[in-house]
Parts: sequence; C-alpha cells; structure tokens
Amino acid sequence: MTSGSESPEGPKKLVVGFCCNECAYAAADLAGSTHRTHPPNVLVVRVPCSGAVDPSWLLYALANGADAAFVAGCRKGECHYVDGNLKAESRVSFLKSLLDAVGVEPERVEMFFMAASEPHRFVEAAREMAARVEALPPLHRRESVPVGPKREALIRALQSIAVEVRDVPLPAIPGFEVPVFDLDRCIGCGACIEACPEGAIHSEDRGDFRVFLLSALKCTGCGDCVDACRENEVEALSLGGVRVPQLLSEWSEVARLELTRCSVCGRPFATDRELERADSPPICPECKAKASAKAISFGRVRL
Ligand code: FES
Repeated sequence: MTSGSESPEGPKKLVVGFCCNECAYAAADLAGSTHRTHPPNVLVVRVPCSGAVDPSWLLYALANGADAAFVAGCRKGECHYVDGNLKAESRVSFLKSLLDAVGVEPERVEMFFMAASEPHRFVEAAREMAARVEALPPLHRRESVPVGPKREALIRALQSIAVEVRDVPLPAIPGFEVPVFDLDRCIGCGACIEACPEGAIHSEDRGDFRVFLLSALKCTGCGDCVDACRENEVEALSLGGVRVPQLLSEWSEVARLELTRCSVCGRPFATDRELERADSPPICPECKAKASAKAISFGRVRL
C-alpha cells in the first residue's frame, strides 16, 4: 500500500481508520498496488471485521493523539460475519451522539462501506477524513489514556476530551444499555440490586427517601435486573440508552422514592407500595419485633 507524500507545511493532524480485513483493508491494499495515493496522515489498522471494533477504540485513539477516527467495513449486506458492519454503523452513530453531547465535533468519527474491488472508495474515505480534520480546530486533551478494560477506556477517554456535559439520552446499543426505572411502578424492593452480578446498582435510605444509584462503569447491560423485576411482578425496569452524566460519574441517581414513617417510632423505613404489596401496617421491623417480644413475655402468645 502506498500513501501520499509528507506535507511541506509540517505534520498533519492524525486520522486512524479501522478497516475490516475482508473488504476495506483489501480495498486499501488494492489502492496501493494500483498506485492510488491517500493522505499520509491516515493510519490504517486492520481488523477481522468492522463489527469487532469496540466504541472505546475510536475514543481511545482520539484521546491519545488522533484528531479523527473512522471504521470502514464491507458494503451493507456483504459483511463476511453476517452483520458486523451494521453493528459498527450503530456504534459509530452512538459515538457521534456521545461526542456531540460532550461538545466535541461528531464528524471526528465516521463509518464507511466499500467492496474489496473499490480502492477508489477507500481513497475517497481517507481524503474525506483528512480534509475534515484540517478544517476542524485542534482537539484538546486533558491527559492521555492508558490501556484498560473497554468501558473504562471509553469513559476515561471521554473525560479527557469532554468540553461540556449535556444531559441527553444516547442511542441504546448493546453493551451501552442501562436499566431505566419507571417511577410510577417501582416499589423500591431492591430485587434489581440482588440480581445484578456486577454490583452496579445499590440503594441508600436518605431521610424520607430511598435513593437508587447506578454505576454505568460497572453495568454491562445484561438485563438480569430487568428479569428480576419482571419475576417479582413489578415490571418497573427496562433497558434504555445511557445518559452522558451517568457515563461520567462513578454513581448516578436513577430513582428516588418517598418512604413511609413507622407509626410507632416515626422512623422512615419502607415505601408505600412495598407496604401495600405486603399488605402490612406501617410499623417498622424493629417495632414489630419489640411488640412480639412484649406479647410473648406477657404470655399473650403461646410458643
Ligand atoms: Fe467486512 Fe464484516 S467482514 S465488515
């Protein structure tokens, strides 16, 4: 594969392209062997299929020196692994929304489709991205991001390049879905907490409220919490798109339910819906235990 010559104006902004081995990389290779040139600042990374490209890879590239990154795969309907290119397309779309939400130009990432026999398409894609980065302002980075687990790398890269944080829902894509609480249905039972294998949900009673917190870093979007909620016949959870502040904070509040006060000691202890469901009077477990102990000591209860 050949590339264009170095610019006399100095180093160009860097573009990283993840190209599927079957078509896009083959097209790039053919571009070289047929003496078509592409800008020298476009670096090609060969991947088995565009569907293998994790969203974190593109952000990792941006946080570590690239000014733009793209994914190039087979034409639609021609992926050698069925639908890897369609998955890649939805991930790039997710990243565009994510970048836009943190004040970074979404055109820094892109998806291209091409056949192995279309070297001109690869050259067009490479030129298009090189032209885009030349027109864009420099990308500011707070720090480079070390190699790490995918989700962590994505979040750290985002923290490095974010200019602002807007609270917008992102497209729901596999791997980046999180539980979304329906507050009109949630009873605050905590079945989701027990079901989560990653410890990504926990709750705290804060004064008169029970607050549910989610760690988007830990959540894998497996849906075990949704199943547990459904098995508990509550159906207050569904999987939906993660929100940008959730991605950027260690724990984010996802539900807040008012607690009922114990009619004996006055301590807030359970939600209205929990009591309704248990068909129980508003008396906390401690007061109930004390009342039972008294009843036994006065001989009202025979064991
Ligand atoms: Fe080319 Fe899947 S093999 S995109």
